[in-house]
Amino acid sequence: MSLTELGLACGTDKAGSHHYTRHYERHFGHLRDQAFTLLEIGIGGGRREGRGGASLRMWKRFFLHAQVVGLDIVDKSFVTAPRIHVHQGDQTDEALLRRIVDEHGPIEVIIDDGSHRPEHVRETFRVLFPLLADGGLYAIEDTQASYWPNWGGSTDRQDPTTTMALVKDLVDGLNYVEFLDEGYEPTYTDLHVTELHAYHNLVILKKGTNRESTNRDRIAGQHRPASASEPPSGRG
Ligand SMILES: C[S@@+](CC[C@H](N)C(=O)[O-])C[C@H]1O[C@@H](n2cnc3c(N)ncnc32)[C@H](O)[C@@H]1O
Repeated sequence: MSLTELGLACGTDKAGSHHYTRHYERHFGHLRDQAFTLLEIGIGGGRREGRGGASLRMWKRFFLHAQVVGLDIVDKSFVTAPRIHVHQGDQTDEALLRRIVDEHGPIEVIIDDGSHRPEHVRETFRVLFPLLADGGLYAIEDTQASYWPNWGGSTDRQDPTTTMALVKDLVDGLNYVEFLDEGYEPTYTDLHVTELHAYHNLVILKKGTNRESTNRDRIAGQHRPASASEPPSGRG
């Protein structure tokens, strides 16, 4: 079965009302037969008794040998099953996140499908991205909350505190070696985000070593403005 078929069968909104599974299948498909650990923030069902676990079950059926770990602020211990591990707590609790990684790590895939509130998403990313395994993948769902004040977002698309502002900063960081700022010190994410795939309401990024070389000094010069007339072809 495809991930979309499994998503529909398990009842997660990652397939159907959202269109995330087709992207996940493309980015995660190479792991299907691998033994690895996936952590998802947000098990589902909210405070409704006995509800939730759809996506954890979907991941378990798609990834034949993976350990699937879930975290939710509500007690979802009933979802526990062979290869499914459940924790309760807040996605912004740094000590808890570190304990989960200590217990189950290394973690190769992290999916943030929790509160979707930008301040939570950003804090979870701050803590967990450095703990993600080298070569690992980090997904953030429902980034539309960035635009919605009642979800902690903003109608100002330049607001620097939203999830999409984080994403835009990470895109810039992919190109940090091209910056002309005097003495610019690359951040952890500058150095470790190597790919960033943005879809409608979904972002998937890859961790690795971002140290590609640059033709900056030859083409742009130390202090030349971006409007300099030579083309950035590397020639001339
Ligand atoms: C959209 S649902 C997750 C759906 C599930 N991943 C799926 O695809 O079937 C969001 C979940 O995040 C949980 N949640 C909300 N705020 C949270 C927080 N601060 N920390 C951890 N979990 C949270 C909610 O209880 C809810 O179960």
